[in-house]
Amino acid sequence: MNRLDTIIYPLKGERKNIFFSGKGGVGKTSMACITAVQTAKNGFKTLLLTTDPAAHIGNVLDRPVTDNITPIEGIENLYAVKIDQKKATEEYKAGLLKEAEGKFDANTIMAMKEELDSPCTEEMASFQKFVDFAGNDDFEIIVVDTAPTGHTLRLLELPMDWSKQIQLKSGVATEISEGDRLQKQRFDKVIEMMKNEKETTFAFVMYPERTPIVEAHRASAELLTLGIKTQLVVANLIIPEEQAVTSFYQKRRSMQLGYIEEIKETFKASVLLQVPMLEDEIKGLDMLLEIGSIIFK
Ligand SMILES: Nc1ncnc2c1ncn2[C@@H]1O[C@H](COP(=O)(O)OP(=O)(O)O)[C@@H](O)[C@H]1O
Ligand SMILES: [Mg+2]
Repeated sequence: MNRLDTIIYPLKGERKNIFFSGKGGVGKTSMACITAVQTAKNGFKTLLLTTDPAAHIGNVLDRPVTDNITPIEGIENLYAVKIDQKKATEEYKAGLLKEAEGKFDANTIMAMKEELDSPCTEEMASFQKFVDFAGNDDFEIIVVDTAPTGHTLRLLELPMDWSKQIQLKSGVATEISEGDRLQKQRFDKVIEMMKNEKETTFAFVMYPERTPIVEAHRASAELLTLGIKTQLVVANLIIPEEQAVTSFYQKRRSMQLGYIEEIKETFKASVLLQVPMLEDEIKGLDMLLEIGSIIFK
């Protein structure tokens, strides 16, 4: 196997998770869809999962995608799901409050309700859903289309807030329940998996321009503080050579090529994928397959 293959495909009998991160609009959703279609086409049972509240993988695949795992018609082995943050949060809150009823007095429950009205709860709820999906051993590859950078980091740091939530749930004096203990174990297992470079690949998508490179590098350094290496970088929207026929586009293209060298230098340890700027927006299984065969050759 070449190096790109080892970061996209799992070892025999194992699992591979691939996360695409980066700023808004750089091509994360497109890359996640292209990659998932490619791995499914090559015979790996693949789940494409989005944690972006503004997700549109359904549009890109041109197939319905819901918050239940759905097979994608037209590509064998491909399944997709989106985490519906709002719904996940409602379920999560209702679950916690139900558990608390009868256990605590009205004042405590009031305080809990207030405490649960925080953005932290939303992230917790999404993460819990994510853990449910990521813990699913049915799939050989899980490709994750993340929300813009920052969100993924929060996701990973969340388990540190976990103890706070448990305390909130059980009240100061009460013991941690068995259910919570089990859930914590599942959380920890997923975090372990995300930190294992053989099982999980982190990819940053960016434009070959100065600020995006600096920002991706900063985010990648932050991930490293959590013990996670960036194994893959994607330089998107490269002007094709045959299109660089006016001095304007020649100049832009040569600027991009300069920045591609900078990306190689900045992300020395990562594999670089280069994606050309296409004349159409990226949409539909045929187009995803075609781009995949070009960039993963
Ligand atoms: N290489 C490309 N060529 C042409 N259009 C692209 C390319 N990459 C992304 N796009 C378009 O740019 C827009 C943003 O891409 P998207 O994948 O949704 O970014 P993100 O998920 O990072 O916000 C989409 O309309 C997509 O079709
Ligand atoms: Mg997106």
